Amino acid sequence: MKLYLASGNPHKAAELQALAVRDGLLAQIVSANTLGGMPPVVEDAGTFVGNARKKARALQPRLPADAWVLADDSGLCVDALAGAPGVDSAYFAGPEGDAAANLAKLVGLMRDVPAAGRRARFVCVLLVAGPEGAEPVFEGRCEGWLLCEPRGGTGFGYDPLFVPDGQTRSFAELGDAVKNGISHRARAWAQLAEWIRGKIFG
Ligand code: IMP
Repeated sequence: MKLYLASGNPHKAAELQALAVRDGLLAQIVSANTLGGMPPVVEDAGTFVGNARKKARALQPRLPADAWVLADDSGLCVDALAGAPGVDSAYFAGPEGDAAANLAKLVGLMRDVPAAGRRARFVCVLLVAGPEGAEPVFEGRCEGWLLCEPRGGTGFGYDPLFVPDGQTRSFAELGDAVKNGISHRARAWAQLAEWIRGKIFG
């Protein structure tokens, strides 16, 4: 089964494809980058589900009518910031979507927050749009806390600042295989994988 990923983020495509391979699932994740790029989407729906729906519907017209589209909208929600950056995670420091600037802004805002106030969670919504019309949604979360300074060199986005519960190292130190075992995206994927199995095997 081909899933056209409504995202230009190569890290999301790589993580989702690695999850499919790990699960032995016959699902191919085809990045929008291979289709001439992801059409611009204003992510102003205010919810992860709403933004995911906008992304899926932006890519759909570029595909055959029987294609399946997968959208991923995700972000980091920080308790001390009343849930920010949340749905605005990609554009926290400005409309350019500069990941390094986003990370630096978060480090600055959290500088004086004591350990007890550094709780945060990643949220990932995966939404499928396809010929059947229904748009099933699968949500995964990963709870953890924020370091004071970024650590590690793998992953993307806020990974260097986020330590998942049960670990002492950041996602960017733990590496892709460990991250894919426990991440918000992996947890949303686990539900999507069940849905895909139903489609493939009836
Ligand atoms: P989206 O592309 O609009 O869904 O924005 C997602 C943003 O949330 C990314 O640009 C990252 O800043 C952040 N984010 C989502 N998932 C992850 C992750 O797995 N690791 C690190 N940052 C993430």
